[in-house]
Amino acid sequence: MAKITSGVGTSHVPAIGAAVDKGLTEQDYWKPLFNGYEKAREWIAKEKPDVCIVVYNDHASAFSLELIPTFAIGVAPEFMPADEGYGPRQVPPVKGHPKLAWHLCESLILNEFDITIANKMPVDHGLTVPLSIMYNQPEEWPCKVIPLAVNVIQYPQPLGTRCFALGQAIREAVASFDEDLKVCILGTGGMSHQLQGERAGLVNEEFDIAFLNDLTADPERLINMRHAEYLRESGSEGAELVMWLIMLGALEDPKEIHRTYHVPASNTGAGLIVLESK
Ligand code: DHB
Ligand code: FE
Repeated sequence: MAKITSGVGTSHVPAIGAAVDKGLTEQDYWKPLFNGYEKAREWIAKEKPDVCIVVYNDHASAFSLELIPTFAIGVAPEFMPADEGYGPRQVPPVKGHPKLAWHLCESLILNEFDITIANKMPVDHGLTVPLSIMYNQPEEWPCKVIPLAVNVIQYPQPLGTRCFALGQAIREAVASFDEDLKVCILGTGGMSHQLQGERAGLVNEEFDIAFLNDLTADPERLINMRHAEYLRESGSEGAELVMWLIMLGALEDPKEIHRTYHVPASNTGAGLIVLESK
């Protein structure tokens, strides 16, 4: 049977991907951040998931204000890196797992989660940067990837409670897939950051560390946190953190294996946590 054995929460800052692409990771500015990623890279090289479900948000790349799915699952055999204005990132195409992705859609929709089915979905930095953080620059990504896009950029975004419940339903759906697969789920985005307005550049380290702590110490606090609190405490884009709660809900009795946190990465607090299911 398939099983979600682990979860990773990580920021998906585009500049981190650019640092990898341009070979800048040894520079003074970037080195401390990438040193912090080393243990996570060693961990995933040993863990070797067959499939990564990557929960991320599209930043007006595959979708626009014309069409705003709350939750969309990519069921295609391949997803191309999106052109976000500078040409697509020169990273390998992302290989999907159509059979498991369709199984997820069927199981979730019949379980009353109204998922949008995406047969074509270019994937932006929200998905490709976490892959670079975990796998660096391989010829091909070493796992199949199921993209799960969540609307966190246009009000009204889904609540933390809904995201956590979706994670729980994903855990059940994967467990009922009749093939031996080791699955890792990534929740991406955040941590604290605000890209526009008077508070642009806001980083709240205390909020971010408490968020990392409470993924295992007090998940109820995070699950019940409202959008207004994310906005006030972690900036307008800090609300991307609700996607980590989908990852959290998909794990059984999660145990923390590793974390790293570094400021600054572009204009954000960059965090990463590795959790394993019991
Ligand atoms: C930036 C963009 C993001 O989507 C994000 O999550 C963090 C930072 C940026 O443009 O700096
Ligand atoms: Fe983002």
